[in-house]
Parts: sequence; structure tokens; C-alpha cells
Amino acid sequence: MNANIIGTGSYLPKKILTNYDLEKMVDTSNEWIVTRTGIKERRIAADDEYTSDMGVEAAKKAIKDAEIGYEEIDFIMTATLTPDYIFPSTSCIIQKKIKAYQAAAVDIQAACSGYIYALSLAKALVEQKVYKNILIIASEKLSSIVDYKDRSTCVLFGDGAAAAVVGLKNKGYEIKGVSLGADGRESDLLILPGGGCRYVPSHETIDRRLHYVKMAGNEVFKHAIRKMEFASKDCLKKVGLQEEDIDWLIPHQANERIIMAIAKRFKNLPLDKVYKSVIEKYGNTSASSVGIALDELDKEGRVKNGENILFTVFGAGFTWGAAIITKRG
Ligand code: UT7
Repeated sequence: MNANIIGTGSYLPKKILTNYDLEKMVDTSNEWIVTRTGIKERRIAADDEYTSDMGVEAAKKAIKDAEIGYEEIDFIMTATLTPDYIFPSTSCIIQKKIKAYQAAAVDIQAACSGYIYALSLAKALVEQKVYKNILIIASEKLSSIVDYKDRSTCVLFGDGAAAAVVGLKNKGYEIKGVSLGADGRESDLLILPGGGCRYVPSHETIDRRLHYVKMAGNEVFKHAIRKMEFASKDCLKKVGLQEEDIDWLIPHQANERIIMAIAKRFKNLPLDKVYKSVIEKYGNTSASSVGIALDELDKEGRVKNGENILFTVFGAGFTWGAAIITKRG
């Protein structure tokens, strides 16, 4: 029996940073940002609002949606590249905040692919009957690692969180299959160099701005399209479905041009079935992006029973993945 996503939730901080705000901070323009990325605005967490806080808000909604008690959560997995601390894990902090003391807790680091990596692990553990209800969370305070003096990256990213409960309860979305991949040979193209044991924080690492995201945007762009297409097709093959069986496409929301390039690979899919409003409203929220998209699409009530949703994601590492879920009747 396949595991299901039995509840979803998401959380976006209140503060909005528009392209016009960014025009005052770096040498950029609303026109450049919209035409090159599709982003109109993004959310920024408050100074005292952390990854765990946003994760908790998304988790509460997902647990309510799943109609289970906090005491029924057996495992918490948080996908993030902006943990509250290097250790302890953000999952442990979330566990404390939601008082789910019976749950095991671990963080997952697969950058923007984290939600689908977590979904894959949760599916396997639930189906193997190791755990009954697994809370997966993706939460990112990317504003804490973005260099607001670097126009090539600061216009792209935003903060936000998503959560889902994976279990066997008969509701929500059946997780038909997942496909994951990685290629560590390209790890330098998208990286936060400072803060680990290689560049231990020092005055020098701060002066060299190593505590901020560095990205070779053009290179990453090309890899993202190729790998998300590959993962999608691999996942379709794994679950025995054809392209025309896909009713909704939710690609990682990093750039509208990447989303549209992937959509073109699915010739029979109408463009209104390609979800891209997350990139427009919230920018690139890394691991959270596809989880926020699923929650918003679900709450809009547009997915019909029996329809298939294909996720495809790509991130630093490189890592990539795809998943196919089906709305249950
Ligand atoms: O989430 C993980 C995966 N991440 C991604 O998938 C991101 C992938 N990359 C991208 O989305 C795009 O490469 C970017 C949006 C980052 C950049 O778009 P691009 O079309 O690849 O632009 P570019 O880097 O080739 O730069 C074109 C020009 C350059 O100027 P010159 O050299 O042509 O004079 C840049 O300096 O645009 C300039 N530029 C900007 N101009 C105004 C770069 N950033 C900006 C900016 N405003 N914010």
C-alpha cells in the first residue's frame, strides 16, 4: 500500500520586499527582475522570526489538515539550508515547540530538493511500517544568507515554509512514486562557502563575504532544466504513467523561464496546469517552494479526485528529484 500525504500547510512571513524596494538597494530594475525571473515580490521573515518558527506555523496547519493529534507524529524531518543553528537540528527545536516529544527528529540537507527528498524518505518509512505518521517540513530563512549587495542573487530569494503529514490514513494524495538524484561534481556552482569547518567564521571570512550564497546563475540554469526534465521522465517510468497522464506540473519555483522550459517538455499539458504563482509572489524559497505550491493549489480546490500532480525539483549539490502524487477520492 502506498503512503499518502494526509495534510498540508504553509506559512509566509508578513513583510513584503518588492522589486521596487530592491531598486533602491542595488543596481537593478523591476523590468529586469520580472522579465528574467518572473518574480514580482518576496517575503522576508522578521528579525526575531527564525526557520523553526516558520516551520512550526506550517506544521500546525498540516497537522490540523491531517486531522490527527500532535501525539500521533512519530518522526519530524525538516528540509532546510538555513537551520536555526548548525546543531541541534531545527527538527528538534520544532519538536520542542509543538510538544511532540514522542517523535524522532532529523534535518535533511538537499538544498532546494529537500522537500522531495524528505517525501521520499517518509514514504519509504511509512510503507515499511517503521513509522505511522511522519511530519515533513521545509522551512527557509534565505534572507539570512543572501548578500543584499549582490544584485545577481539578492533579487531571487525569499523566506517561507511548507509542511505535510505522510501517513496511511485514507485521505489527501497517494504518493505514487519518487525519483531522486545528485551530482557532487558540480557542488561549487551554488554554494554557501563560509560557516562550516572549511571556512570557519573569522574576520577574514566575513570580509570576503563567504557567509553569503554564491551562484553561477547561468550554469545552474542549464543544469536545472536538464535534470528536472530527466527526473520527471524517470519518475513517470518508475510509476508506469505516460506524459499525458499528468494533470498538474509543480516545478521548483526558482525562475519562471526555467518553469516554462520544463513545461514545454510536456506538450499536452495546458499552461494553466503548470503551477508558477509561487515564484511570482514569493521568489525562490528553496526547499519550501514546491510544498507551498502544493498547499496553495490544494486549498484553491482546483485538483479533482484522481488527478495526478508531478513535482520536479533541483538544487545545490547538485541534487534533483521528482514525485508523482494522485488526489484520493
Ligand atoms: O534554486 C536553485 C536553483 N537556482 C536556479 O535555478 C537559478 C538559476 N539561474 C537563474 O535563474 C538565472 O541565471 C538568473 C536569474 C540568476 C540570471 O539570469 P540570466 O538571464 O542567466 O542573467 P545573466 O547572469 O546571464 O546576466 C545577464 C546580465 C549581466 O550583465 P551583462 O554582463 O550582460 O552586462 C548581469 O550583470 O544581467 C546582469 N544582471 C542584472 N541586471 C539587473 C544580473 N543580475 C541583475 C539584476 N539586475 N538583478
